[in-house]
Formats: sequence, C-alpha cells, structure tokens
Amino acid sequence: MTNKQPIIIGSDHAAFELKEKIKTFLSDYGLTVTDIGTKSNASVNYVDFGKKVAKAVSQKEFDKGILLCGTGLGMSMTANRFPQVRAALCSDIFAARMSRLHNDSNILVLGGRVVGDILAFEIIKTWLETPFEGGRHLERIQTIDQ
Ligand code: RB5
Repeated sequence: MTNKQPIIIGSDHAAFELKEKIKTFLSDYGLTVTDIGTKSNASVNYVDFGKKVAKAVSQKEFDKGILLCGTGLGMSMTANRFPQVRAALCSDIFAARMSRLHNDSNILVLGGRVVGDILAFEIIKTWLETPFEGGRHLERIQTIDQ
C-alpha cells in the first residue's frame, strides 16, 4: 500500500541535482515534499542537512525522510545517531524492500554519485510501497535504542 504522508528530504551539493529530480518524482507520485536544502551545487557540509532531516523524523514531525549525499555514507552515519531513526542506505531494490519489511526504515539514504535517477525512482517507489512486517522484527528493532 502506498504511504501518502508528507515526506522530508535533504541533500548536500553532491546530490543536489538528483534531489531536485526526486522532488518532481515524489510530487508526481502524489506526495507533499518538504525540502530542507541544500539549494544549489555550492559545497556544503552534509552533516548540517542530515541532522535536520533526522531530527524531524526522530521527533515524529515526519513519518519518513529521504537523505542524499555523494555516497550516502555520511548521511547514514549522521542520521543513525538520532533516537528512533532507522536510516537505510540503499543502492538496489532488494535492500530497499528488506529495509522496510524487516527494519521498518524511516529514512531512505541514496548516493547521488552511486545511483542514476531512474534506479533512484524505482528504489524510492519500492521503499514507499513496502510495509513493515512487524512480529519478531518489531521486537528486534525495539532493542536498537536500548
Ligand atoms: C562530498 O564531497 C561527499 O563527501 C559527500 O557528499 C558524501 O559522500 C559524504 O559521505
């Protein structure tokens, strides 16, 4: 089932162009998108943007978020410091699907220098449409923040 709740997105300069394309994709898909930047190709520190999105998801202002940097690595490291955030760096559809089914990922991280735009759209679609399985996986994710 498609989750049509508003989504928050952020990137650094390395993934700025992919972020812009993803915003169009998400809006065509029917989602309201809040973009916290960056707003251009000018060099920035990915941590500043990662923290904004992770904080918003951690504090339940948004159900889900998307973060992008060149590799996706810095954004993952940043976002996963926040309580209740389960950020999943995905470069393929299988990982995107499993990150929802088993890990209830609430932030999808993409590498703008790793995936092309069409693959990114497919990963996002899979991630948005795959539910969390719950059950034993709920018990497991509940121990992450302990
Ligand atoms: C920027 O050059 C790059 O370091 C950043 O986008 C990201 O890949 C960091 O993890």
